[in-house]
Amino acid sequence: MKAEWDALSAHHQAVAGRRILDLFAGGDRAAAFTAEADGMRLDWSKTNIDAEGRRLLVALAEAARVADKRRAMFTGERINDTEGRAVLHTALRNLDGTVIVDGKNVVPSVVETLERMEAFARDVRAGRFTGQGGRITDVVNIGIGGSDLGPAMATLALAPYHDGPRCHYVSNVDGAHIADTLRGLNPETTLVIVASKTFTTIETMTNAQTARDWMAGKVANPAAQFAAVSTAADRTAAFGIDPARVFGFEDWVGGRYSMWGPIGLALMLAVGPEDFRAFLAGGRAMDDHFRQAPFEANLPVLLALVGVWHNQICGHTTRAVLPYDQRLSRLPAYLQQLEMESNGKRVAMDGSDLEIHSGPVVWGEPGTNGQHAFYQLIHQGTRVVPCEFLIAKAGHEAHLAHQHVLLVSNCLAQSEALLRGRSLEEARAIMAAKGLTGAELDRQARHRVFPGNRPSVTIAYEKLTPFVLGQIIALYEHRVFVEGVILGINSYDQWGVELGKELALALQPVLEGRQGTEGKDGSTAALAAWFRK
Ligand code: F6P
Repeated sequence: MKAEWDALSAHHQAVAGRRILDLFAGGDRAAAFTAEADGMRLDWSKTNIDAEGRRLLVALAEAARVADKRRAMFTGERINDTEGRAVLHTALRNLDGTVIVDGKNVVPSVVETLERMEAFARDVRAGRFTGQGGRITDVVNIGIGGSDLGPAMATLALAPYHDGPRCHYVSNVDGAHIADTLRGLNPETTLVIVASKTFTTIETMTNAQTARDWMAGKVANPAAQFAAVSTAADRTAAFGIDPARVFGFEDWVGGRYSMWGPIGLALMLAVGPEDFRAFLAGGRAMDDHFRQAPFEANLPVLLALVGVWHNQICGHTTRAVLPYDQRLSRLPAYLQQLEMESNGKRVAMDGSDLEIHSGPVVWGEPGTNGQHAFYQLIHQGTRVVPCEFLIAKAGHEAHLAHQHVLLVSNCLAQSEALLRGRSLEEARAIMAAKGLTGAELDRQARHRVFPGNRPSVTIAYEKLTPFVLGQIIALYEHRVFVEGVILGINSYDQWGVELGKELALALQPVLEGRQGTEGKDGSTAALAAWFRK
């Protein structure tokens, strides 16, 4: 692939100095650089990628054999080869399909588990499954990372559809999190879901024990108000959870890709089985688009190629995700895990050092809040931050349509301002109109210059429905896949989180004074001593 990378770098060198705005002069660039799938559009025209850049990027994807690897993923090959696993979160939404793993079609068991979840959710929502004190009023999902961020993000995103019990999410091992969550809840009407793929994660198991102790003070049989979501049936049984309320999944579903299955139980309790199925259908629609559309019109492929252009070719090390949708306020946090745990790797599939940079730092906040916080840097800082805007044509609040117009104007205005900027001449004219002259006019004007020429893409959709949320999440999942294939890394392991876990376990006895600090570096030893004093 060296030839393809080199060709892209050479093309970048040749075009780096030009203005993106000038690209709009010839032809209908907006149409040529907008792709659509089932009502969702991706406008990537506000980037410095022209037809030749697109051709070279598509050639890079072809040289990386994205199509072959895509087929391998969807058909259950063990593409997560450092863990010897298939990568089949797509099977969780391929409910009428056939996916063979180890000679067996896994779809029937996916459907069976989904139907068990639905039956349980209906019982809880209808008050047939109760706590000791009657109907379940509150659900506490205890999980972390992929066992928390997906359902927590989605429950907020689908608030207009939330007609089930209140849902709370506890993740942090910091006792403050569970204490603040349980305060005010009635243990007699609370259902606790312990969500952990491995059922070994220290944060989750500690919080689960705390929740059980909290319930034990008031409820005769706390285990009867617990459910579990895990791949480890033996461990859920050892914790004392009735197998009737254990919802399993297989190791071919990665934690950060797992909200489509049992990890989504709390979401299903919130919005109900029908809306959960609509969410799955949105993901499935994006899967079909990803599998069928040519690269030049394929939303996940294009989003990945734009990402590669900005990060690996242009050298922009971060990417801002800016949903103009308050209910997507947890999307950036969700994407941080999805993208950075997947593509933050320094070794290629074959074990060699990566010769290009791995995935970017992903961050963001909803607009318009971000505008009044960090957009200053995005507009006038010395580093370029490629931005991804998300916006719905309509909100759910029909009576507040005038606010939605304001929201959309702000979203469009930001990408316009990033593109267009404001020249020194324009700034000078503004300051002159205010009566400034001479050196002071020049000085003040320079502060008001916007370099512009800053790239962004806009993902636009009709309304944030369960279906659309499914499209958005699957879009980002497949984008991560394509970027990972192009970088030649395994997007589906996460060895980088292990060392810290091991050292934390080893430090616990040191902090409790049961062991000394021998072997620790000076700083860690001093901090441990400070804690113990
Ligand atoms: O430590 C990272 C991680 O393994 C994530 O990949 C995962 O989503 C999270 O921990 C939680 O793991 P589990 O669901 O097994 O508790």
